[in-house]
Amino acid sequence: MDILGKHGVIERNATLLLSLSLVVVCIGGIVEVAPLFYLQNTIEEVEGMRPYTPLELAGRNIYVREGCYVCHSQMIRPFRDEVERYGHYSLAAESMYDHSFQWGSKRTGPDLARVGGRYSDVWHVEHLRHPQALVPESIMPRYGFLSDTDLDLNMIQADLQANAMVGVPYSQEAILNARADLVAQTDPNGDSSGFTSRYAKARVADFDGNLARITEMDALVAYLQMLGTLVDFTQYDAKANYR
Ligand code: HEC
Repeated sequence: MDILGKHGVIERNATLLLSLSLVVVCIGGIVEVAPLFYLQNTIEEVEGMRPYTPLELAGRNIYVREGCYVCHSQMIRPFRDEVERYGHYSLAAESMYDHSFQWGSKRTGPDLARVGGRYSDVWHVEHLRHPQALVPESIMPRYGFLSDTDLDLNMIQADLQANAMVGVPYSQEAILNARADLVAQTDPNGDSSGFTSRYAKARVADFDGNLARITEMDALVAYLQMLGTLVDFTQYDAKANYR
């Protein structure tokens, strides 16, 4: 019997065909997936990444709640046009503390992965209140109510704890100080030494321009202003990860 004849046996027996297909698919799957567990560059070790500060984390929650991801992505792809417009392409490590990640799937507005530091806090507050005042053709909705809404501080400690449970390296000290750290980041006149020792490269500021209150605007602007600022790309050597 020639080889095609033998194949005919498999084709006439559905159970045998299914079982053998499964074996072939498994081998293919293992060949594709197994190397990822051993390759150095699956998750590059990148210097500078730290967990979100409590205020940034609260801002991130508002970003998710308001559905900003529906119009904005946070993933710069490794294409020349993207890199020239937005900066260095996104690294996997840059979203390693995101639960859930905010890569998004649609860009009605621009990518926000590196928007941090690109505009002033005042610009962000004005833009969120009334996008068309700054960009007349903008179709972005207004979020002025964030300036009038006090940030709810009751859940922040539990939020850090929940993130720690899924692997974000918040220390016990950071969790216990979550609420105090959140307040410290919004008060440039206060003592923020404990806070800055726990979170490298975190900026202390009155983000919403109103020292009297800690609002949802404070949190959202703090979050936007840190996006993409943690990894220092003058120090980062992409080639080193492909040795
Ligand atoms: C309906 C779609 C839509 C939604 C929802 C939306 N945006 Fe936008 N956004 C845009 C568009 C379009 C632009 C570009 C025009 C402009 O700057 O207003 C933009 C611009 C921006 C910019 C300036 C980016 C840059 O590089 O110039 C920021 C920051 C921003 N949005 C943040 C947010 C945040 C935060 C939210 C959620 C609270 C949000 N957007 C929700 C459509 C949207």
